[in-house]
Amino acid sequence: MAVTGSHDELAAAASAVLERNWMGHATRPSPRLYPHQWSWDSAFMAMGQALADPQRAQQELRSLFAAQWSNGLLPHIVFSEGPGRYFPGADFWQSGRCPYAPRRPQTSGIVQPPVHALSAWRVFERLPDRDLGRAFLAELLPQLTAWHAYLYRERADEHGLVEIWHPWESGMDNSPLWDAALARIDPAPEQIPSYERIDLDYAEVDHRPTDREYDRYVFLVASMRDRAYLPDRIRADLPFRVQDALFNSILVRANRDLARIAREVGADHRQFDDWAAWTAGGIEARMWSEDEGLYLDVDACTGERIGIRTFAGFTPLLAGVPDSTRAARLVAELDTFAVASADGLLVPSLGRDDPRFEPARYWRGPAWPVVQWVLQDGLDQYGYRDHAARLRAGLLAVVERSGFWEHYDPTSGDANGGEHFAWTAAIVLDVLAAGSGAARRSGEPAPIP
Ligand code: SER
Repeated sequence: MAVTGSHDELAAAASAVLERNWMGHATRPSPRLYPHQWSWDSAFMAMGQALADPQRAQQELRSLFAAQWSNGLLPHIVFSEGPGRYFPGADFWQSGRCPYAPRRPQTSGIVQPPVHALSAWRVFERLPDRDLGRAFLAELLPQLTAWHAYLYRERADEHGLVEIWHPWESGMDNSPLWDAALARIDPAPEQIPSYERIDLDYAEVDHRPTDREYDRYVFLVASMRDRAYLPDRIRADLPFRVQDALFNSILVRANRDLARIAREVGADHRQFDDWAAWTAGGIEARMWSEDEGLYLDVDACTGERIGIRTFAGFTPLLAGVPDSTRAARLVAELDTFAVASADGLLVPSLGRDDPRFEPARYWRGPAWPVVQWVLQDGLDQYGYRDHAARLRAGLLAVVERSGFWEHYDPTSGDANGGEHFAWTAAIVLDVLAAGSGAARRSGEPAPIP
């Protein structure tokens, strides 16, 4: 579906996609490909809905946190009772094996990037009633605190960098960032549980990860399931442990927003300031590459940096991590990394000069709305307003032309992956709302060091 015309029409079309995907308690990302609730998608759903339907925006976050584990883990999928076909479903995850998991709803046993404090703050900014908004923040504060505490308790190293235990935890499932780590995992056929690729019924095979990758995804889930999802048992010997620049940058920013939330409701914010400073220091010390001019992920199993240029290397901008010299270097690198057209900028998920670049295959090249969102926010904070505006324009142009899809070929603008994509619709609504300056109560950008 193409959307043409004014931004009002685009906003109406985006709202219709969210309505179509509303399940009565939360929004599924896509009707057939992702028919349950996903963690970081939902955080953006709440931001996108907050102006038009504040109740629904709050419900979106409430229903996600209702599935939080008692150790603070916020699961990446919350399964709905409905008929949605998906692999791996609740029967594969068997989250009930973990004593920390709720009995209902059933969930996955891994996490996704911690954008939730950003979302809660954004929803608050857009709620019409300040007292109700403050009550909403006060309600979420303990849950957000437990979520961040889980990450620091179970996942952090001495530099304040947290690690992911599955490519799905990064949100960038089949990024080449994980290729070397996954190549070291060579399960015997009998170690890979049998499974069916339901995703290939609902998306093109060339837009999705390969079977070889799925074998390893499934093996890693089975490894965690066998350890009853107990963090100390997983961390002791899981063969996939990576410190990712995107995940850690989002966490720094989320801590800063959590500090704002705490201040707004009169609670102690110092723990969140400390966490933000600790992880920001780790990103600077361990991830910056002077040779590449961007930040690199670290393989926590080997201690080596992963020398692959992806969009994630620019994302410390979101958290105000780089000083102005490094930010300028990042922007110079972004000028060659991004694809410029008369419409604006599209940022590929992988550098186009990388031999693994595939413009339609999921996280191995396509442009994603969430990437545009993360980078435009960071660039705005540093005063690169023209770059930020061109990223927003690039996103809106591609959606106006091709409709609400999962990802877009950055070289042609063609739309790919899942259809009727609510995550895309929500991000478009957020960008349009921010552009109109709507309901920005205290929208001072985070301080840049
Ligand atoms: N993104 C994964 C999938 O493709 C799950 O988180 O199903």
